[in-house]
Amino acid sequence: MKVIYPGSFDPVTKGHIDIIKRAQKIFGEVIVAVLVNNSKNSLFTIEERVELLQDALKDIENIEVDTFSGLLINYTESKGCNRIIRGLRAISDYEVELQMALANRSLNGNVETVFLASSPEFNFLSSSIVKEIASFGGDVSDLVSSSVNEALKEKYKNIK
Ligand code: COA
Repeated sequence: MKVIYPGSFDPVTKGHIDIIKRAQKIFGEVIVAVLVNNSKNSLFTIEERVELLQDALKDIENIEVDTFSGLLINYTESKGCNRIIRGLRAISDYEVELQMALANRSLNGNVETVFLASSPEFNFLSSSIVKEIASFGGDVSDLVSSSVNEALKEKYKNIK
């Protein structure tokens, strides 16, 4: 079964990779869908985010990295999928995720959102936390792939 794992991935972290690997084991095929036109101010361009995802996921089979804009439910339908994967880290994720899952279900009752509990070591992780640590020269090598680590160093090299 093909499932969609959506997000902004600015940048992808080991927390995302953990969810993607486990979803691939359960469902067989995962489309990692990067949201274009996000209202968030991004550090990485869409092309950079896709490239960093592709690199981080190159050793996992049956993964497609794609982009989408507009409603997630329309994209999900266009890919012939009826499952959306979301990771749950803390109880605070639950409220937002429930609202999003119910909104998506109201738009298309055939599409189910499936939640995977985040692995405990990544419970605190977010792309913003990684960017904040990296921007002050902190070590994020345990939190991101080596290419994301290098890309962050490059982005922040002129910021002291
Ligand atoms: N490990 C580590 N970090 C994680 C994580 C995990 N397992 N899961 C989420 N995160 C982080 C993300 O990196 C992100 O960090 P940031 O806020 O610092 O950038 C944060 O947690 C929030 O992630 P998420 O909830 O996935 O938000 P998102 O912006 O990455 O993606 C979309 C949200 C794309 C799924 C959603 O906005 C969407 O579907 N948009 C399309 C429009 C639409 O259809 N709207 C109606 C839906 S109700």
